[in-house]
Amino acid sequence: MNKPLDLARIPVDHDDIDTNDSPNEHFSAVVQARMSRRSLLRGGAASAATALFGAVSLSACGGSDNDNVATSPNPPTGNTPATPPAEKLLGFTAVSKSLADAVVVPAGYTATVLYALGDPLTANTPAFKNDGTDGDWENRAGDHHDGMEFFALSATNGPATTVNDRGVLAMNHEATTDEKLSSFFVHANGGTMSLPRPAAEVDKEMALHGLSTVEVRKNGSKWEYLKDSALNRRVHQQTEIEIAGPARGNALMVTKYSTNGTKTRGTLNNCGTGKTPWNTYLSGEENWSGYFNRSATDDAARGNDKSVAALKRYGRNQGDASRHGWETGGAEDRFQRWNNSRKGTSLDGSDDYRNEMNAMGYIVEMDPYDKTKAIKKRTALGRFAHESAAFGKPVAGQPLAVYMGDDSRNEYIYKYVSNAAWATADANPADRIATGDKYLDNGKLYVAKFNADGSGQWIELSVTNSAIAGYAGYKFADQADVVVNARLAADAVGATKMDRPEWCSVNPANGEIYFSLTNNSNRRVEPSGSSQAAPDAANPRAYTDQKGTATQAGNVNGHILRVKEGAAGSTALGFTWDVYLFGAEAKAAAASINLSGLSEDQDFSSPDGLAFSAATGICWIQTDDGAYTDVTNCMMLAGLPGQVGDGKKVTLSYPRANGAANLALDTYVGKAATPDTLKRFLVGPVGSEITGIAETPDGKALFVNIQHPGEGTAAANVGDPSKYTSQWPSNAGYGAGKRPRSATIVITKNDGGRIGT
Ligand code: FEO
Ligand code: CA
Ligand code: CA
Repeated sequence: MNKPLDLARIPVDHDDIDTNDSPNEHFSAVVQARMSRRSLLRGGAASAATALFGAVSLSACGGSDNDNVATSPNPPTGNTPATPPAEKLLGFTAVSKSLADAVVVPAGYTATVLYALGDPLTANTPAFKNDGTDGDWENRAGDHHDGMEFFALSATNGPATTVNDRGVLAMNHEATTDEKLSSFFVHANGGTMSLPRPAAEVDKEMALHGLSTVEVRKNGSKWEYLKDSALNRRVHQQTEIEIAGPARGNALMVTKYSTNGTKTRGTLNNCGTGKTPWNTYLSGEENWSGYFNRSATDDAARGNDKSVAALKRYGRNQGDASRHGWETGGAEDRFQRWNNSRKGTSLDGSDDYRNEMNAMGYIVEMDPYDKTKAIKKRTALGRFAHESAAFGKPVAGQPLAVYMGDDSRNEYIYKYVSNAAWATADANPADRIATGDKYLDNGKLYVAKFNADGSGQWIELSVTNSAIAGYAGYKFADQADVVVNARLAADAVGATKMDRPEWCSVNPANGEIYFSLTNNSNRRVEPSGSSQAAPDAANPRAYTDQKGTATQAGNVNGHILRVKEGAAGSTALGFTWDVYLFGAEAKAAAASINLSGLSEDQDFSSPDGLAFSAATGICWIQTDDGAYTDVTNCMMLAGLPGQVGDGKKVTLSYPRANGAANLALDTYVGKAATPDTLKRFLVGPVGSEITGIAETPDGKALFVNIQHPGEGTAAANVGDPSKYTSQWPSNAGYGAGKRPRSATIVITKNDGGRIGT
C-alpha cells in the first residue's frame, strides 16, 4: 500500500501490493447473471528413503491425450532390467502437509542443497562464513533465489539439447529478508533500522539483488556447482543494461545516467522467468517500485504534470519511503538514483532521477552462454509487476506469442505478439541477443478481458485505439508511453481485474496457457472503496477463512486459470477459458470453496510458481502462502491436467446486504482432481516459499528454489539462532553458520528415473 514507511511497524508483505483503483467495470456488473512413506531430506543425507522398484506401476500405456502413463525413453541405469519398465506419472506416494524445518520429498527421492545465498562464484572469493561479516558480494550468490532456468552445455559451452549432466543455471535473486529497512541476516549486528543507512550496508544489499548464472554438473551421482567456472556471473544494481524496444531513447527514459534514454543500471525484484526458443533467459521485474523514494512535495515540484498519475498508478505517491532507504547511503550517484523525485532544473530530467522508475518493470533478456552480450530490457512487452514470460508453442511462419501476468491485486493478464514470423533457423542462431531484437522489440501488446460465458478477448494496447487515445485518466504521447504505462492503457480499455496473476506456463500437450492467480484479499461480494473488486466469472470466489483466531477474507487460497486460444493461435483475438484448479483447504465447503474437490494429499493455498515439464508434461505448482501456514509450510504439487472445458459450469450464490437478492455467479471449473491427476510432491522448510523450477532435458534432475526460509524471524534475534524460525539449510548439513539461507536444491530419483514418476 502507498503509505509512508512507519519504522515502528511490522514489515508489510512486499509481494502483496495494490495500486489499481481504476474504475474499470468489474465482471459482476456484467454477470447477473504421509510421514510413513516420505523422506525428511536434510542436505545430502536422505533419511528413511526407500527406493522400491515395486512401487513403480507397470501398467501399460494407453492412447488418450490425458493418459498418465508413459514409457520412459531413458530407462534407469544401474540394475536396469532387460526390458525397461513403463513408468507411471504421479506414481510416487503423496507427501503429507508438514510444519517441519526441512525439505520433504516422497520416498524414493533425494533432495540435495546445491547453491545457497553467499556461495562464492569465483576462485578467489572466500568461503561463506554466514555470520554477517562476509564481503565481495558482487561475486557471491544473491539472496531470495526465485525463477530459474537450466541451459545445457555442449562440449564447447554452447547450447545443447541432449546433455543431461552439465549446464548453467540462470536465476533471479528477487529480494532480501528485511525488517524496518535492513536485510538483517547479511549484516553482522543485523544492520541499521533507521535512516540514514551506512554506505557499506547499502552496497551489500544492492549487490545481492539481481541475477546469477552458475555452472552445475553431475560428478558421479552427485550434482555440484563450480565456484571457478568462467560462465558464473552476477548481475546486480550497478550492472549496465540497455533499454530496447519502443521506449529506447524516449523522453520518458532520460536520466542523469543516460541523457539519451538508452541505458540504465541493474534489474530489480526479479521474480518469474522464461526461456526463449533461441535459448536465452528472460527475467521479470516485479515489485521494483517499493525501492524508490519520493519527496513529500514532489507532485508540486513536477508541476503536477501527468507523471504524477503514472507514478501513483505504479505505486509511488509523493512522500512514499523506500523499502531499504538506499537513497540515504550517501551523495554518490549510485545511492541518489533511488530518489525518484524531481530535484533538478532541467526540463527533460537529464539532471536527476525523476524518470528512474521508468527503467524498471520489464522483461529482461540475458544470454546465459555469453557474458560479452548486452543485457536488454524488452520494453515492447510492457511495464508492470512482471512474473514469468511463457512462449506459446512456436509455429514456423507464425508470429510468436508471449504470455505474462501483472502481480498486484486487481491487475491484468497480457499477451505480446511479435511482428516477425518464427523461422526455425532462429532456434540456433549465431547471435542470440540479436535474435531477441528481432522477435521482442517489435510487436503488439494485448490485455485480457474475460467474459461471463467462458469466452474472452485480447484487446490491443495501441496509442491509435480510441479508448486509449481519448482516456481521461492519462494523456498518452506515443506508443512508448503506452508500453511504459501499460497499466493505465489497460485501465482505459476495460481489462478484467484479476486475483494477482503470478506465473504462467504453456501445456506442451495442447498449447493451452495456465495462469496462477495466487490470492486476492481485496475481492469482496460487497466491495468497499476503489481498491476492492466484486467477484466475477474468472475470479469467482470471495469468502472467509479462519487462520487460528484471525479471519481472512477475499479469494483466500487462489486459483489456476487456463486459456485456449482461438483458431488463429498466437495471433488469436478471442479465446475460451476455465479454472483448472481452485486452491482450498480439503475441509472447506465443496459447493463454494473447495470447488476442485481437493483431498488432504492435494490441498494447497496461494499457487505462484507454475511450469510444465518438457520431459514428462507434468504441471508443477509451487506455493507462496500465508493463509494455510498454520497447518503446513509452502509446497510443490504435480498435476496432470486435461483441457479447457473438461469440467462443468458451477453457479455460486452469494448473500448480499440489505435484503438484496443473492448474487448468482456462473464459473467454469475443470475436471475435479483425482489421486491420479494431482499429488503433493514436496513441502519446504519453515517460513519459505517454493519457487523456481528447472530440469535437465531428460527430466531426471529437477532444480527447485527454496526462498526466504526463516522469514518471520525478528531482526532483534539475529544473534540468537535458537530464536530463528528456521535454520535451514544448515540443519541439512549445508554450509557454515545457522542463519537461514535461500538456496537451490536438486531433486533426483534414487532409481535413476524421471522426476514425478
Ligand atoms: Fe515475486 Fe508475485 O511473486
Ligand atoms: Ca484456514
Ligand atoms: Ca512469484
